[in-house]
Amino acid sequence: MLKVENLSASYQTIDGDVHVIKDLDFEIRDNEIFGIAGESGCGKTTLLKTLYDIVEFPLVIDQGKVILSGEKNGKPFSYESGQIRKSWWNNISYVPQAAQSVLNPIVRLKKQFLDSIPAEDKKNETEEQTLARVAKYLEDLSLSPDVLESYPFQLSGGMRQRVIIALATFMSPNVVLADEPTTALDVVVQRGILMMLMRLQKQFKNTLVIVSHDMGVHYQITNRMAIMYSGSVIELGDTEDIFNDPVHPYTQMLVAALPRVGDKSQKVGIPGRPPALKNPPPGCRFAPRCPKATDRCRSEVPKFREVKPGRFAACHLLNEEVGL
Ligand SMILES: Nc1ncnc2c1ncn2[C@@H]1O[C@H](COP(=O)(O)OP(=O)(O)O)[C@@H](O)[C@H]1O
Ligand SMILES: [Mg+2]
Repeated sequence: MLKVENLSASYQTIDGDVHVIKDLDFEIRDNEIFGIAGESGCGKTTLLKTLYDIVEFPLVIDQGKVILSGEKNGKPFSYESGQIRKSWWNNISYVPQAAQSVLNPIVRLKKQFLDSIPAEDKKNETEEQTLARVAKYLEDLSLSPDVLESYPFQLSGGMRQRVIIALATFMSPNVVLADEPTTALDVVVQRGILMMLMRLQKQFKNTLVIVSHDMGVHYQITNRMAIMYSGSVIELGDTEDIFNDPVHPYTQMLVAALPRVGDKSQKVGIPGRPPALKNPPPGCRFAPRCPKATDRCRSEVPKFREVKPGRFAACHLLNEEVGL
């Protein structure tokens, strides 16, 4: 389980701190595909970095922490921010945004696999034996073990992404974080990658956290999801419920803007732009774009709370309108 407790983080820049993620409080469960959605720049990658514990200058955690806990091979474990990196590969792994760049283009993939598998997992094994395990794993994923002899530049973008996912899941970590794993790939390849991720999650019964700005990706593969806006999670719950009955005005507008089968009407985006994180408006950060905003919305930050069983949202209007 990944527990995010009261978490805020900033980038320290020459002209002052930019508070990117603010007061996040939620849990990602075992054995689920959890989605993180939101427009570009809302802080998804930053959140994922704090989950994986690659918090390096200029990024700093201002308050709160992340706790990664669970059980592997019958042994319980628990790590919090600052210690999570001890559990990299074994308990948690990360497919970064633009992951293509994590592979060295001029080093054969077999060497890159060997180098990333922790020493304690390879002891009592010759290099050939480790590679045989890797080859078997690739075959299980319907990938040709021949790729191990290739250099990354020889592979297509989709194939490279598959290899990176294979690398990230080889140690069967409890949690796999994937940042925009299908962005920049064509639709058919995207579909293949999503199927691969789903299949792996089913096989390992682990937690897959998938970040995407594309609501279609969340609809297709996530069980639960969080919607981020300007550094905050503004709604969280079962994916299907969120699509059927979004409660936050921002989510309502996001869902309304999605194309539907058979519907030929022109979809309009959400007017306006997200606020600059450097100088956010007081109160609800969505208020300047929210058609329902009141004076209270413009002055008081709404609390993120459970508005009905399993559904969390941060919006003042939910008190009045829905009687929640
Ligand atoms: N190294 C950095 N220094 C300063 N600001 C940054 C840095 N990286 C990201 N940001 C800012 O943090 C905000 C969130 O970025 P990011 O987490 O990458 O969003 P997303 O993944 O949702 O597109 C953006 O406004 C971005 O400009
Ligand atoms: Mg990003």
